[in-house]
Amino acid sequence: MGNYRIAVLPGDGIGKEVTKGAVEILQAVATRFHHQFEFVYGLIGGEAIDQKGTPLPDETLAMCRQSDAVLLGAVGGPKWDQNPPHLRPEKGLLAIRKEMNLFANLRPVKFYDSLIDSSPLKAEVIQDVDLLIVRELTGGLYFGKPSGRHVEDGEETVVDTLLYKREEIKRIVTTAFELARKRRKKVTSVDKANVLESSRMWREIAEEVARDFPDVKLEHMLVDNAAMQLIRNPKQFDVLVTENMFGDILSDEASMLAGSLGMLPSASLSTSGPSLYEPIHGSAPDIAGQNKANPIAMILSSAMMLRLSFGLHEEAKAIEKAVQQVLTSGYRTADVARNGQRIVSTKEMVNEIKATILDDGAIL
Ligand code: NAD
Ligand code: IPM
Ligand code: MN
Repeated sequence: MGNYRIAVLPGDGIGKEVTKGAVEILQAVATRFHHQFEFVYGLIGGEAIDQKGTPLPDETLAMCRQSDAVLLGAVGGPKWDQNPPHLRPEKGLLAIRKEMNLFANLRPVKFYDSLIDSSPLKAEVIQDVDLLIVRELTGGLYFGKPSGRHVEDGEETVVDTLLYKREEIKRIVTTAFELARKRRKKVTSVDKANVLESSRMWREIAEEVARDFPDVKLEHMLVDNAAMQLIRNPKQFDVLVTENMFGDILSDEASMLAGSLGMLPSASLSTSGPSLYEPIHGSAPDIAGQNKANPIAMILSSAMMLRLSFGLHEEAKAIEKAVQQVLTSGYRTADVARNGQRIVSTKEMVNEIKATILDDGAIL
């Protein structure tokens, strides 16, 4: 039996609905496997701006640092879209990633047999897809300075900077190689080396790191081609490693291989200190508050937490197996339902996964 303290940051929009679901699932896991999970709640994003005047209050950060892991829903919404840059919900998310040094964002993309008709892509293209996007999360275009607007010679000017230190590239590429070693031993490093100097240095470092991993194959791919190859033949990929913004864009695209954005979990890992687990999707203002969101991306993120932060492999598998079973039984939220299929709500989906976890425990 283990005792774990989990910081929960629901955030905005469907973030609230899906984190509530994930907490219920973790409570079912605690019951079945006799663990104690202590959940502590914090503000982030738009709600934090409204209540505390900042998207990442100090007390939220302190609470996360004192926890064993962090679960985050999503931030953002139209209410705050016109705010100045430092008062945007997204700034809170970027700040927590930076402050907690969460440099490696792992976004696994897995094909589910029962969702074969949910993807707009052909069955033979997506069948058996199993790839991992390793997205650099605390550098690159999102964080480089200078960034902002100014007037230069009477002309309105804007700048964002893509900046990396050698060590930052080395550690993310090394992480990708280490992960590939435990998988199918192939790394695709995605860049724009035909145009960007940052990508040329990225490529050089990837080659250097590769020398320490002779058992892993390295290939380079330009990001525009990678976007196309993900749809043409995704089975060619094992581990992809890439710059912050490239990884952001490619992972939303790759979610359609699994059938929906609502299916992809992620882990944001640090060199030291607690890690953070978050679905790759956003706050989905178009369906927020309607009990329609697919909670599976968040639930699978909590399974990643059990495995990667707590070493609870059997417990993580119990969640993943329950998700698989419930999908096989035909339960579908609206995003993955096809014509004529019965649609369940967020809560019904959570309840079904929860019941499956507890039933499986009862049989054992
Ligand atoms: P989004 O991911 O919120 O939604 C894109 C589309 O996918 C929408 O149609 C939405 O309904 C659907 N979708 C997303 N998650 C779903 C789920 N779990 N179940 C069913 N459908 C789902 O992206 P967006 O609309 O571009 O952005 C909305 C807001 O979310 C913005 O403020 C953005 O900054 C923010 N955002 C936050 C995060 C995060 O907190 N990690 C990630 C992406 C976007
Ligand atoms: C994500 C989101 C965030 C990102 C935004 C909300 C800052 O799109 O987690 O994928 O771009 O990293
Ligand atoms: Mn994104």
